[in-house]
Amino acid sequence: MPPPRNREDLPASRAEKGRICPPPLSLRAPEPGDEEAALQAQDELAADGFDFLLLGDRTWAQWLDKVARDRAGVDLAPGRVPATMLFGVVGEEIVGRAHIRHELTPALLEEGGHIGYGVRPDYRRRGYATAMLRQGLQVVRGLGVDRALVTCDDDNPASIATIERCGGVLEDTRPRDDGASTRRYWIDLS
Ligand SMILES: CC(C)(COP(=O)(O)OP(=O)(O)OC[C@H]1O[C@@H](n2cnc3c(N)ncnc32)[C@H](O)[C@@H]1OP(=O)(O)O)[C@@H](O)C(=O)NCCC(=O)NCCS
Repeated sequence: MPPPRNREDLPASRAEKGRICPPPLSLRAPEPGDEEAALQAQDELAADGFDFLLLGDRTWAQWLDKVARDRAGVDLAPGRVPATMLFGVVGEEIVGRAHIRHELTPALLEEGGHIGYGVRPDYRRRGYATAMLRQGLQVVRGLGVDRALVTCDDDNPASIATIERCGGVLEDTRPRDDGASTRRYWIDLS
């Protein structure tokens, strides 16, 4: 029997908080064969106003090349720092992505933080964002960062819960020009 896809599919007794053990997630670099699933994820997350791939008007091949150059810190646009794009993968499925900024610029310190993440709608509420953030933080730690900044919108309860589960300590909530507010959390990696 295939595993249940959604928490709602589970009997109530198993769906109680803390009793679900989701399948293991790993982070890996995008690969040429990911094109179809990744573009699908891009479309799905667009409904949340979330740019999954940061694709712009690039072709898939151009995007893979940009991902490699961003990671190596080659040909960066002004004001940009090296960054690593990783897919969260469960079995063969791309369930989400984490985008890791190797250091903070003034703009990232204000709003973007070290890690941005998104999970495809069909895979939410299974702990995958929490797993991606935890593993992403280890990548940040490996870059020599001992305190990570993770931010989210003040009206995004799922992301707030994800960050707080990973040990985020709220520094402040800053109003933005668009009328929304950004929560800024620090996570100790030392
Ligand atoms: C935010 C997001 C990444 C969370 O992904 P996820 O895989 O569902 O998160 P998790 O399963 O790790 O959930 C963590 C906790 O957040 C809380 N949560 C999740 N979805 C929630 C919701 N819709 N409303 C309230 N709380 C929610 C829950 O406490 C959840 O744990 P639980 O399911 O055991 O109760 C996902 O909703 C998403 O991709 N949203 C669009 C993009 C986005 O907002 N990215 C974050 C930018 S900072």
